[in-house]
Amino acid sequence: MSFLHKHQKLEKNSLLLLFWTIIAVLIGGIVEIIPLFRTETVIEPVKGVRPYTPLELAGYNIYLREGCYNCHSQQIRPLRDEVARYGHYSLAAESMYDHPFQWGSKRTGPDLARVGGKYSDDWHVAHLKAPRDVVPESIMPSYSFLLKTGAKIDDLDQHLKTLRLAGVPYSDEMIENAEKDAIAQATGEARMDMAGLVSRYGEKVLARDFDGQPEVISEMDALVAYLQVLGTMVDFKSAEQVEESAP
Ligand code: HEC
Repeated sequence: MSFLHKHQKLEKNSLLLLFWTIIAVLIGGIVEIIPLFRTETVIEPVKGVRPYTPLELAGYNIYLREGCYNCHSQQIRPLRDEVARYGHYSLAAESMYDHPFQWGSKRTGPDLARVGGKYSDDWHVAHLKAPRDVVPESIMPSYSFLLKTGAKIDDLDQHLKTLRLAGVPYSDEMIENAEKDAIAQATGEARMDMAGLVSRYGEKVLARDFDGQPEVISEMDALVAYLQVLGTMVDFKSAEQVEESAP
């Protein structure tokens, strides 16, 4: 009874109530936030996820510049309809090297988290050039100018360096070879340093002329290289086999 009496005091004095409310919220906040400072990372690392190659990163930058995220999300939620439509739900580790991440909040167009490998390069080029040629009811704008604009690749080392400050594990070698690696990936020509590209970014790196114009490295090359890698880094088939065989 005496406790309730004390509480009555609080309820009748708004300033006192405010004071103790703030104290209660602060305690709640501390309890929730302090443990996060003690864990090294809250993202479970997943095998296969690697930083973007310089060319893919150039494509990512174009994706940001053109505001593709205004119409496209990159986050498949763990709901049955989403998984049936787009594939395995997104894992936190898949966007751990995106700064900023591209989860998005608007789906005027479909989610793009797993669009890599879904279409051919030619399809992407035709679609970005004139979306309605490919999907008649599309309301996506045309990005045909990307075919005519050269990709800026001579400053990619600086982009890699900056991302390293944010924790993306680019090595000195990757930074030094950024421009060369971009050229090798966008041409896919054996005379370029393919072995170097593969040793730095792995066997699965797609190296070829993405935009159908072998003589230039256009912004289209970069953007399509980026689209084609989305969602392809994690090998879900082997990951699921491991899960299934686990007791
Ligand atoms: C005004 C909204 C809008 C913007 C901006 C936009 N898109 Fe789209 N996008 C759509 C719509 C709607 C569709 C579905 C119809 C279609 O395929 O064209 C689509 C489809 C796509 C697809 C095919 C996805 C699939 O799984 O079939 C890709 C890839 C794509 N967009 C990439 C991009 C890229 C890259 C950009 C930025 C350069 C971009 N979009 C900007 C609306 C948009």
